Order: sequence, then structure tokens, then C-alpha cells
Amino acid sequence: MSYPFQIKTYEEYQRAYKRSVDDPEGFWADVASSFSWRKRWNKVLDWNFKEPHVEWFSGSKLNITENCLDRHLLNLGNKPAIIWEPNDPEEHHRVLTYRNLYDKVCQFSHVLKNNGVKKGDRVCIYMGMIPELAIAVLACARIGAIHSVIFGGFSAQSIADRLQDAKAEYIVTCDGAFRGAKDIPLKNVIDDALIACPFVKRVIVCTRTRTPVSMIKGRDVWWEDEIKKVETLGLNHFEAEEMDAEDELFILYTSGSTGKPKGVVHTCGGYMVFTAYSFVNVFQYTPGDVHFCTADIGWITGHSYILYGPLASGATTLMFEGVPTWPDAGRLWQIVDKYKVNVLYTAPTAIRSLMGFGLEPFEGTDLSSLKVLGTVGEPINEEAWHWYDEHVGKKRCPIVDTWWQTETGGILISNMAGVTPAKPAHATLPLPGVQPILVDENGVEVTGNPAAGNLCIKAPWPSIIRTTYGDHERCRQTYFSTYENLYFTGDGALRDADGNYRITGRVDDVLNVSGHRIGTAEVENAINMHAGVVESAVVGYPHDIKGQGIYAYVICQDMHTDESHMRLDILQTVSRIIGPIAKPDKIQFVSGLPKTRSGKIMRRILRKIAEGEKNNLGDTTTLLDPSVVEEIAEGKL
Ligand code: WT7
Repeated sequence: MSYPFQIKTYEEYQRAYKRSVDDPEGFWADVASSFSWRKRWNKVLDWNFKEPHVEWFSGSKLNITENCLDRHLLNLGNKPAIIWEPNDPEEHHRVLTYRNLYDKVCQFSHVLKNNGVKKGDRVCIYMGMIPELAIAVLACARIGAIHSVIFGGFSAQSIADRLQDAKAEYIVTCDGAFRGAKDIPLKNVIDDALIACPFVKRVIVCTRTRTPVSMIKGRDVWWEDEIKKVETLGLNHFEAEEMDAEDELFILYTSGSTGKPKGVVHTCGGYMVFTAYSFVNVFQYTPGDVHFCTADIGWITGHSYILYGPLASGATTLMFEGVPTWPDAGRLWQIVDKYKVNVLYTAPTAIRSLMGFGLEPFEGTDLSSLKVLGTVGEPINEEAWHWYDEHVGKKRCPIVDTWWQTETGGILISNMAGVTPAKPAHATLPLPGVQPILVDENGVEVTGNPAAGNLCIKAPWPSIIRTTYGDHERCRQTYFSTYENLYFTGDGALRDADGNYRITGRVDDVLNVSGHRIGTAEVENAINMHAGVVESAVVGYPHDIKGQGIYAYVICQDMHTDESHMRLDILQTVSRIIGPIAKPDKIQFVSGLPKTRSGKIMRRILRKIAEGEKNNLGDTTTLLDPSVVEEIAEGKL
């Protein structure tokens, strides 16, 4: 496999960047030409950010799995596509060659079809990190069904909300999942979710943990039984569905500043082109390299850089079922040595948590196979950057700090390993095809360097969000209405004298906890579900390992309740409603919240108090009752 679009030098980067701005259609047509299309496009790009309407490669036909599988069979058929490392290091690992993966995806495509799934149907996938998850995702893409993967940590309630929003009639799940010392009963959670989703027709259950499950007659079937039927019938190849470049490939739910998660929609053609383009360039992937992204496929990072980007590039991608700290904090380093990993891509929160274990976990490992390191999900502090550089990369591996979002589909701002310069804590420069600008609160561009402002993008790149499922107006409102004719990221950023971007974090009411996006309103709604709660306000505060922690101010009905019990009950409620990832780190009981005369909570003040800056609260004169601020600032946790 060769990548005609791979950039090798800084000069090439500058040339490619310039061309991508001067002639975006010519630029992306050239990149797209190295993929396999059943029919070429009539027009490369058609767009406006008003509606918004974005169409890439219109009129073209393809199936993304033919690009991820079929076209590699001839030359890479016996090469590993997926290496799977189980949770328990004592269990056997698995290697799926491109040929194996192709066979299994074809088989499961037959299973989906036999169970009634058709092009355009939504299929919810709720599984642990096992190869069957990848197979299920790709089989959906092969038959033209829209997959919606839900992270294994979400609660039954969250799943039900998503199933209803997507009107998903089909589910693929497992009996359970292993994650570190835990055993998560996935099928039981699905059963709870389905009480509120009678429209679900079929649940396909893959065996992993042997956790007892209840299989409902007429609705639930075993993955293994369904595969056997296909084998008995001798069904092998599955002819991929012909898709339009703009047909929907998947929905992935993500949190925003309002209570309800949004179903971000990505489409087939542009998403494929951009994930492969960014994968090859940012990580400087070389055929034969082993790429290890530690994310879960339940998040966009896993979609784009465990599955689609690497597989569309004929790469070897490593899928890890477990967690970095189990059975011990050396697990990632042992995996790197075991498979001679060349690229390691992880989150700052994982790095910070591993830093806490000191250097002992590195003993007996050599990590000499590593060539490139990457980070994603949140700003990386300089201390963590240097630790990663020194102890993992041994000061010989470039670190790419990749900034992007669920909505962007792929990496937009990042250095390219060894090609463009790195700068600690900076995502640095935009990829070709990406035109960032900084604007002030009035939407006026902040020009010159250095600069600070809200980060927007001027023109579409191929994997930009197309809509929010079932509610296009919400997509317009959220991303395209704050500033006219710009895509607004929700992030603030600085630009240094050399034009390098440094992302400072969200400027809206979205928290980033251990690299997971959580809306403050979502957490507040969950807390308010508790019968004893009158009202709550949630803000983020700096947390050494998680990046941001969740701080909740809560007003209770009965101010004399036992606070420690109440705290536990609130945590339990949030776990039930959203999932354990949204549990507040701190809960402070208060008798009132600082509100303006118009009834708006002044979060700025609450954030300051949560940060411990109690003496510098700024102007409080517009508050309805300034005395609550004193009470809160003096209050104990
Ligand atoms: C938000 C998007 C995209 C992969 C995982 C997260 C923050 C992401 C960086 C980075 C600073 C970053 C932003 C962004 N973020 N990468 N390299 N430096 N901040 O996806 O859940 O959609 O969250 O993560 O705040 O808006 P997501």
C-alpha cells in the first residue's frame, strides 16, 4: 500500500496547505482518487454554512468497507488488520488478517440481513472492546445500515434516550464486558433500556463473559447461533451495498450545552477520505507499522483511529479490551513490547494517571519499537507532555497533539509526526484543508499573532458533521448560528507568534472530564431527578488527573437531611440516569444559588468558588441576593 497523499517534509506541508486553500476541489479530488469508488463524483464540493448544507463528492458511489477490506485482499490478505489484546493478559490474544476480517464481516452482514436489517436502518451497538464489535460496525457499513455505537459505560436510561432518538430497531450487544477488575452486564443493561423501547425488533447477543442473561423469545438471538446458520447455508461473500457518498454512515451521540445529547451524523465518502488522509499524515503511518490507539470504539477517536482511518489505509490496528492500570500500571508498556507497537495514541488523562505510579511500571520493558506518540481529547499540560516524551518516547519519538471533535470526524489541528514542528501543550498547525480562525465575542476576526479568541473554521473539510440526527435545526443552531458563515467549535484558543494554536478548553457549558464530554445541564437534570433535590448547578474545576472534575451545588428540600447519605444517593442517581462517568467529584449543599434578577445562574461565580478563588469573585452587584455568595464561599464540602 502506498499513500500518494502522504506529506513528507515541512515544505510539502506548506505547499499542500496552500493548494488546499486556493483550490480545495482540486486538492481533495486528488486525495480521493487513491480510494476505490464504484462511480466517480460529478462535483467535489457544494456547501453553505447558512442552512448548513455540505455535500462532498456528490454523485459518487462507494462502500467504505470495500475500501477497508476488499481492496486490501490481494496484497495484504495475510497481513494483520486487527490485533486484539484481551483484558486478562493470561488469555490468548487474537490476530485477524485482512482476509479473516473480510470473511467475518461478510458473514455478519448475512446475519444482519437475515434478521431483517436493511439499508438506512439504525443499528445500536453496545459491546465491549472485542473484535466482534469491529465486525458488527463494519457489517452495518457493508449493508448500508447506520450504526450508532454506545459506550459500555452508559446507563440503561441513556441507552433508551438514544434508541428513541435514533428510532433504532436493532441492537447488537454482548452478555457482558470485561474491563479491568470489573465485569459489566451489558445485556442486562440493554434489557432495562428496552422496557422503554418496545419498538426494538431484534437483539443479537455475542458471548464474551458468560454472565447469565435472559433471552426473550422472538426478540433475542445469539450471535454464534446466527453465524452457524450462515455457515450451514455456505454463505461467504456478501456483496456490499452501493452507497452514495452522502448516505449516512453512522450516528454518534455527544453532549452539548443543553440537556439532551445530540446524534452527530457522518456520511460515507468524506468521512472515509478525511480519516484516512489524517491518519496517514498525522501519525506518518508506514506500511507494516502497528498502530495502537487506546480509546474505546464507543467514542469518535475509536471510530476514526482504531477502525476506519487505519483500515482504509491497510494498516495494522491494535484493539485493547482492558484498561491501562490493570492488572498493573505497566500494562500499556507490556502491550507495546508484546506487539512491537510503533504508534501509541492516548489521552492526557491516562498519561497523568500513569505518572502517579512512578517509573517502576516501566521496569523490564524497553519500548524501543515506538516511533510516534499521540495525545487527544483535552489540553495536555507541559508536565505530562514532558513525562510522555521522556519516559515513554525516550526523547526520540515526536508527539502529536491532535485537536478535533466528534463533530469534525477527524483531526483538524495537529503537528505531523517528524514533519512539522511540535510544541509542548500546542496542537500547532491546521491540516491541509482546514481553515481555522479566531473571533472575539462579536464574531470579529482576531488577526495577527499572537492572538486569542473563540475557535471557528471557515470552510468545510470532508468529514464535517452533516446534521444532528432527526433535528437539522439543532445542528444549525449549535454550530452555525453563533457566528455567521462559520463553524463554531465551542473551544477557546490562543495563537502564538508562529501561528501555532493552543486550545484552552470549552467556552460553553460543556465539561471535559478525563477526555469525556459531559454537559453541565445533563448532570444537573440527573441530579434534579432525585426526589430530595430542589435545584442544582454544576460547574467544572481543575482536577489533577481528570483535567476537569465535576462540582455540584445542590439545594435540598430538607436542609436537615443526613448529608453523607444524600451525597451517596445523588451519586447513585446520576449513575442511573447517565452513567458512572458523570458522577460529581464534589457536592456542596447550599440554601440558594447566585442568580441574576432575570433568574439566570451566575456560573462564573460558582466556577471561581469551585476553583478555590473565593476572594476574587468579581462583580456581584447584579445578583438578586448577593448574600448567598458569601454563604456558598464559606460553605464546607
Ligand atoms: C473536545 C471534543 C476528538 C477526540 C476526542 C474528544 C477537547 C480534543 C484536544 C486537544 C485540547 C482537545 C476540545 C474539543 N479536545 N482534543 N488535542 N487539545 N483540547 O472528542 O468528545 O467530541 O470532545 O475535546 O475541547 O472541543 P469530543
